[in-house]
Amino acid sequence: MTRRTRIAGLGHYLPSRVVTNDELEKLMDTSDAWIQERTGIKERRFTADGETCTDMAAAAAKAAMADAGWTPDDVQLVIFATLAPDHFFPGNGVLLQHALGLGEVGAMDVRNQCTGFLYGLSAADGYIRMGTHDRILLVGSERQSPALRLTTEGRDTAVLFGDGAGAMCLEVTEEESPSQLLGHRLHSNGKYALELCVAKPGAANRPWLTKDMLDDGSTNIVMNGREVFKHAITKFPAVIREVLADHNATPDQLVLLVPHQANLRITEAVRKRLDLPEERVYSNIQRYGNTTAASIPIALCEAVNEGKVKRGDLVCLAAFGSGFTWAATLLRY
Ligand code: ACO
Repeated sequence: MTRRTRIAGLGHYLPSRVVTNDELEKLMDTSDAWIQERTGIKERRFTADGETCTDMAAAAAKAAMADAGWTPDDVQLVIFATLAPDHFFPGNGVLLQHALGLGEVGAMDVRNQCTGFLYGLSAADGYIRMGTHDRILLVGSERQSPALRLTTEGRDTAVLFGDGAGAMCLEVTEEESPSQLLGHRLHSNGKYALELCVAKPGAANRPWLTKDMLDDGSTNIVMNGREVFKHAITKFPAVIREVLADHNATPDQLVLLVPHQANLRITEAVRKRLDLPEERVYSNIQRYGNTTAASIPIALCEAVNEGKVKRGDLVCLAAFGSGFTWAATLLRY
């Protein structure tokens, strides 16, 4: 049998606390109109104190495992994508393995920010095709709210990001299966590493973290918004076209494009460049903001729940973000 990978289950989790643009207006010099016009975001979710990235991942994973009909014994490998791990080390993969009561299976973390889920998906597909694993749990989870500066100084990034988690159960199938991952394209250009980053703390420094770093703002999120925008609107369509061309497909054949929910203006620019109608590009950034590695699995899960994607439909997942990195996956759901 030629081994292929199918999505066996999807799940997501969003914290219950809704933070509206009006609420942010009270904390900083911003406005609902500015945020909606530039980003499309109306509200986002923030975790409660004590609710961790791993907690959200566990909730999303349980939902995905229930959807797939898996028990903890079915999971043979955990892949965890996040930029907001609970600790500097160890990674969140092992914390999730323990939280879910899995066997002593492998657990690894992917640190690729907005493209983390797709890098993890390509790795999972590789393991399954290679034959080392039959069932892999892939999670994207982000607790970004504690890093946001909810002040006028931090407003350029504070209004963009939210918390949440999405999970996918992946299992082996046959080449003839109507449901399968078709292929992936991954890219990076580290020349732009510092255009969107949290540069410190880090082991490039001795010691890793000093009071000076906290005082001089070098532990804050840095984003060159215009540079991100300019690259995103060219790299997103390019990588989508690449993965489609690999499989002799064209954008008009897509039932749904699920882009990383970076910014509604970016998604709109990408949609126009690919000449896709609005109903074939999924957006939920209005409700959740940018949830980085969690955005694609949350969006795909919602799209399936809303009946926008059915088994066998051609779907493209695509992401661009910090690194810069960009990636796309083509699949038949
Ligand atoms: N509220 C009100 N005013 C603000 C805010 C805010 N939240 N943030 C910045 N401003 C001000 C700026 O200070 C500036 O004021 P000034 O003219 O007095 O200096 C003014 O608004 C314009 O700022 P710009 O940065 O030039 O605004 P721009 O039109 O570029 O929009 C934005 C900023 C939305 C970030 C835009 O650059 C963008 O969409 N970039 C893409 C970045 C992105 O989407 N990142 C998501 C994370 S990365 C990813 O997931 C791929």
